[in-house]
Amino acid sequence: MKKLIIINGPNLNLLGKREPEIYGHQTFKDYLEILKEKFSNAELLYFQSNIEGELISKIQEVGFDYDGIILNAAAYTHTSVGIGDAIKAISTPVVEVHISNTFSREEFRHQSYISPNAKGVILGFGMQSYDLAIESFI
Ligand code: DQA
Repeated sequence: MKKLIIINGPNLNLLGKREPEIYGHQTFKDYLEILKEKFSNAELLYFQSNIEGELISKIQEVGFDYDGIILNAAAYTHTSVGIGDAIKAISTPVVEVHISNTFSREEFRHQSYISPNAKGVILGFGMQSYDLAIESFI
């Protein structure tokens, strides 16, 4: 059984009420239940934090024995050298995920400190971006 973890960064705890025209109306808690049912053949863990250092600590904690990390670092994607370095440091492959198509948005969202060290990047498919990322590991 594959051991996977979804790690969500800042403000993704507000999914469902945060800018629904961009991020949709569904809460991540509800969506996670659907994912767990759909991928019952995998062990699917979830972690969310608004704090950069907590995200780095979690990446370090799981990054040597999990089979895959599905990472939506949210705004830290575009700013965090520390998260980029953490991904470089670990052996578990990371798939970078975004709900929105960051390339069709503001210029500052076109930069990613995650992408150069990610196994792959999936963005712009709404919540389905997470499904596709999980499938890539199974
Ligand atoms: C996001 C895109 C980021 O630019 C933004 O800061 C987010 C969410 C997405 O999933 O589309 O918080 O990562």
